[in-house]
Amino acid sequence: MYRTASRLIYTTFRNYYTVKPNLDKKQYDLAKQIYQKIKAMGPIPVSDYMKEVLIHPSQGYYINREPMGESGDFITSPELSQIFGEMIAIWFLNEWSKVGAPKPFQIVELGPGRGTLMQDILRVFKHFDSLKQANISLVEISPVLSDSQARRLCATTNLNPDQNAVIYREGMSIIENIPVKWYKTLQDVPNVFTLLIANEFFDALPINKFKKTDLGYREILIDIDKDKEGCFRYVLAKEETPTQKLFLRSDESRENFEISPQSLLMIKEIATRIESDGGFCLIADYGHNGEGTDTFRAFKDHKQHDPLIDPGSADLTADVDFAAIKRAGVEDGKVLAFGPVTQRDFLIKMGIEHRIKVLEENADEKQLKSLRFGYDMLMNLEKMGERFKFMALVPSVLEGILKKVPVVGFH
Ligand SMILES: C[S@@+](CC[C@H](N)C(=O)[O-])C[C@H]1O[C@@H](n2cnc3c(N)ncnc32)[C@H](O)[C@@H]1O
Repeated sequence: MYRTASRLIYTTFRNYYTVKPNLDKKQYDLAKQIYQKIKAMGPIPVSDYMKEVLIHPSQGYYINREPMGESGDFITSPELSQIFGEMIAIWFLNEWSKVGAPKPFQIVELGPGRGTLMQDILRVFKHFDSLKQANISLVEISPVLSDSQARRLCATTNLNPDQNAVIYREGMSIIENIPVKWYKTLQDVPNVFTLLIANEFFDALPINKFKKTDLGYREILIDIDKDKEGCFRYVLAKEETPTQKLFLRSDESRENFEISPQSLLMIKEIATRIESDGGFCLIADYGHNGEGTDTFRAFKDHKQHDPLIDPGSADLTADVDFAAIKRAGVEDGKVLAFGPVTQRDFLIKMGIEHRIKVLEENADEKQLKSLRFGYDMLMNLEKMGERFKFMALVPSVLEGILKKVPVVGFH
């Protein structure tokens, strides 16, 4: 039941980091490919670099490894404490019940990591006898992580031999024996009433970086470092780039800022789905409310790392701009957005204090230590309590109901 004591050794988590280029000469295959690409095409946006590094089909960071945990590069909330997933499950149960618990329904997770969060969610749903008409749809690009999820969630799974199949893996869950299906993109997930969770997914989506100059804003690109063979460096675009023309807001005033076009598209896709199929969406991630500046960074062995060194060997990430995704989400009037609120506030409102007390009453000494460590990591304002935030999307059609019974966790 409890997270094991081995989790006590995790003492680092992702932090704010300002990039200080400090390149060395090591070259990996992926670095060579990026190098060749820049040589052929000229400097590339940070978003192209992130995409190549994280999800390159054969050498991408996420494609080839299990990055979470003791032997990995970072640790996430569900890996720290089961209570995180339990509170999320209760949020979904609460909102779903408010609209009459429509069935059939699916629980969708974007970027499910090791499957730990989904396992915790299913354990809670099981108690409410509501899972029988559910499907689990997992959107995961990494074969290695889908293996890990499969081992955690199902006794056996079948891999589709057709690499291009929409459902590339499927099985039945150990908890309640319901179908679990794996997809590469959200677009492929069936249209049915959806409870969608994305924890630390948006921070993995590519960003573009911009800087204020005497000539106005210019995009920061990645080029070959001509002074250091095989290394990369940041340069400024000579002219306005297409991304800048499309996405730069006229009221922008920060010296440095980042935009994630893919995140904006993704949130619009979620909004459209929730409006047309019905459902609720919860996004949890580290991020800011539109004031963030230079947050692009890398993590390797639980330490910050230069994003331009040894691409493919470290996780690349950027803070989520909650203000931007909220704006994009509500823009077409399909959904209402709540938050962002801090992780600490959200978990308190969801009843974490009560839950930890119950768990502590039944815990032995080792379990107690682990529980308290996890609780402190999640809630402490110096750790994940403040930097991590929650945001919810609900169909606009519920506005009237929500005036009487507000969305839990955000008020
Ligand atoms: C930082 S991990 C978060 C894992 C998990 N949600 C957790 O909290 O432990 C990011 C997850 O998103 C997946 N991922 C990253 N980019 C993706 C993409 N473009 N499409 C689908 N999955 C992606 C990764 O493989 C991984 O499972």
